[in-house]
Amino acid sequence: MDRIAIEGGTPLFGDIPVSGAKNSAIKLMAASLLTSEPVRLTNMPRLADTRLLGRLLTRFGTQITESDGADGQETLLHTPEITSAFAPYDLVRQMRASFNVLGPLIARTGHAKVSLPGGCTIGARPVDLHLKALEALGAHIDMHEGYVFAQAPRGLKGAEIEFPFVSVGATEHALMAAVLAHGTTVLKNAACEPEISDLAECLNAMGAKVSGHGTTTIVVEGVASLHGTDWSVICDRIEAGTYAVAGAMAGGEVRLTKVRPELISILLDKLVEAGCEVHRGFDTVTIKRSGAIKPVDVTTDVYPGFATDLQAQFMALMTLATGESVIKETIFENRFMHVPELGRLGADIRVTGSEARVHGVAELRGAQVMATDLRASACLVIAGLAARGETTVNRVYHLDRGFENLEGKLSACGAKIRRIKGDTPVMEDE
Ligand code: EPZ
Repeated sequence: MDRIAIEGGTPLFGDIPVSGAKNSAIKLMAASLLTSEPVRLTNMPRLADTRLLGRLLTRFGTQITESDGADGQETLLHTPEITSAFAPYDLVRQMRASFNVLGPLIARTGHAKVSLPGGCTIGARPVDLHLKALEALGAHIDMHEGYVFAQAPRGLKGAEIEFPFVSVGATEHALMAAVLAHGTTVLKNAACEPEISDLAECLNAMGAKVSGHGTTTIVVEGVASLHGTDWSVICDRIEAGTYAVAGAMAGGEVRLTKVRPELISILLDKLVEAGCEVHRGFDTVTIKRSGAIKPVDVTTDVYPGFATDLQAQFMALMTLATGESVIKETIFENRFMHVPELGRLGADIRVTGSEARVHGVAELRGAQVMATDLRASACLVIAGLAARGETTVNRVYHLDRGFENLEGKLSACGAKIRRIKGDTPVMEDE
């Protein structure tokens, strides 16, 4: 497997262009199954996860063409006909978001067989809310041998669905299924993440009638069919936030470009509290730090709260703060797997339940570290940029799932970072 070696201690100076959002791109790719016409996604990130989903869609009959265009990389997805509505375990287990093909497959064909995604390193992550939403829409669901068998031969029917708690994936799944249902669907206690609005707006560009996205109540008036469209994927707020924290931790001055500053507003406020100078432009954000890092508490929450996907990176920053900070994780039950690895670099962190107390230390020292998921890997790279000596991050395939050209983007700002090639890995679910 590839590794990343970082010689720490060099401040970052330069521009980092933010890619299209992984967590939007993969849902938009799944949504392309809802029409027999071509959907062209632009500003597409090229990631292990988008490639994997592409492989799965190909099995359903989707033709995929990748190219470069005026709005960055493009992926043209065209599914004239669903030739098979079967998503095997081998592919779904490698990326749990691929479970979200279930809704579009039933909506388009009236039946599907999709593997359950299985467990995951950051928490149990069941899919009960997804299945209940599909049942409420009239799908008949059976489960055997790890597979979901779903049937709705006469189509799905609009329904009122109130989620017992906020789920990004279940909201998106119900939304994709509801657009072709007969009648009106109301999703209450829906997630408000920007990626959901991106999906809803793309669906509207395909002829759907979705309103209320970006709020906790989404209304979908079902339509008989959708058509193709061109859609530019929203910027990746987690990638943007990760590089903002990298700039804060390494010191120097980093300017993020192709970004929507309002999507990382809470993080930027926290960076200001931590002692950074932050300038928010129209589609740029500049982060500058020369003084000490101040301790700042964070509690993860659903959007617009502090993103769980930035928790590990922010914790890395706090390891060098001039005091104690408290970081609470409220979304996933097991998202502190990076703590022992940060400890290998010299960080002083104590975890009690869902709370981590980070006592800032004077310096981190390079070491061999290994991450168990995507965002934890990013936190170790960030910590490595500020650590004295060489840090080697193992199991880099996690990073390749969600960060496009990470070494290239950081090297362009002066980071001493390189990839050491290894064998091709087999991805595990996360
Ligand atoms: C999405 O995961 C993201 N993934 C995650 O990013 C992100 O951390 C998460 O939302 C929260 O923002 C993608 O978009 C592909 P949830 P998702 O359903 O949809 C529980 C990354 O690193 N739950 O909002 O799976 C669940 O276990 C990834 O890019 C149920 O109990 O998150 C969790 O505790 C990691 N039953 C909580 O809800 C369900 O049926 C929120 O999960 C569904 C969820």
